[in-house]
Amino acid sequence: MPDNAIELRNLRKTYPGAGRNTPKQALKGINLDVPQGSIFGLLGPNGAGKSTLINILAGLTIKSAGEVRIWGFDQDVTPRQSRAAIGVMPQELNLDPFFTPRGALEVQAGLYGVPKAQRRTDDILRLIGLEAQAEAYARTLSGGMRRRLLLGKALVHHPQILVLDEPTAGVDIELRQMLWANIRRLNAQGMTIILTTHYLEEAQEMCDEIAIINHGTMIIRDRTERLLARLDSKVLVIHPEDPPAEPVNLPPGVESNTRKDNALVFTYRRSATSAGDILLAVRQAGVHIRDVTTEEPDLEDVFVELTSARPGLINKDASPNAP
Ligand SMILES: Nc1ncnc2c1ncn2[C@@H]1O[C@H](COP(=O)(O)OP(=O)(O)O)[C@@H](O)[C@H]1O
Ligand SMILES: [Mg+2]
Repeated sequence: MPDNAIELRNLRKTYPGAGRNTPKQALKGINLDVPQGSIFGLLGPNGAGKSTLINILAGLTIKSAGEVRIWGFDQDVTPRQSRAAIGVMPQELNLDPFFTPRGALEVQAGLYGVPKAQRRTDDILRLIGLEAQAEAYARTLSGGMRRRLLLGKALVHHPQILVLDEPTAGVDIELRQMLWANIRRLNAQGMTIILTTHYLEEAQEMCDEIAIINHGTMIIRDRTERLLARLDSKVLVIHPEDPPAEPVNLPPGVESNTRKDNALVFTYRRSATSAGDILLAVRQAGVHIRDVTTEEPDLEDVFVELTSARPGLINKDASPNAP
């Protein structure tokens, strides 16, 4: 088994400009390794290049330059093997309206050359919760059911890698829960999962590792918890027995606020100040401390920091174990 399910080297894609439009550089030299067995999140705003990257993996879009290795197979050298290792659930709902779910899964299996005896059509129908609709025409299915059918189609050839392009965009909570549960189950069985999303919360909850891309360039890639740790800003909340009798003499750079419940909220940079320094200053102001809590940044903060023009709060060297 390869260490990396996917390896991309200097991957580029330029769409030719139609009519008077100038050509569009959608991917500007992406280097990326996706470890085998992980749930990997490709995160970025609309237009970042996520679908372009996914569609190149799927063989639906032709790259302009660079190397793509899927399960160790170079896409240019061994296209059949590299295609067999990956299943893709596309962002667009591209289903033939006159196929039934069973028919669509059978046709897809046929396209991938899966022999009849090795097809798992009923298992897949069960997994995606479409047993009752197995013989219904796709055009009669709800949007959520169509999406589940797309997931099923991505699984017919038992790929080692499953790629989902914005699987939960615009779907209701129930379907989202079901997709997440399915994704986790497939991953637990050993499948490498790559998903794109512009929901930060989703990447944070689902993914072991995250790469953020914007304007066709990779901004950062790290383990999810390390990515969060890179954000230097931290919040310390102190609940005092009584409001401070005298002003707190804070270390430089620490901002303080008092909440309605009298809690003292301190925002500080952990590279410059420690929580201990703040606690000491508060105690020296004669405050009896009842309780202390800290708040970690979430991915939203990291994302806004990294994709905005002002590289202020990010401490590139921060270790996840820093105080
Ligand atoms: N077929 C295409 N022809 C021309 N430009 C395209 C095409 N597909 C995508 N683009 C452009 O490439 C950029 C990246 O698009 P896309 O990969 O769909 O981003 P994302 O999936 O992150 O929203 C966008 O600027 C988009 O307009
Ligand atoms: Mg997209």
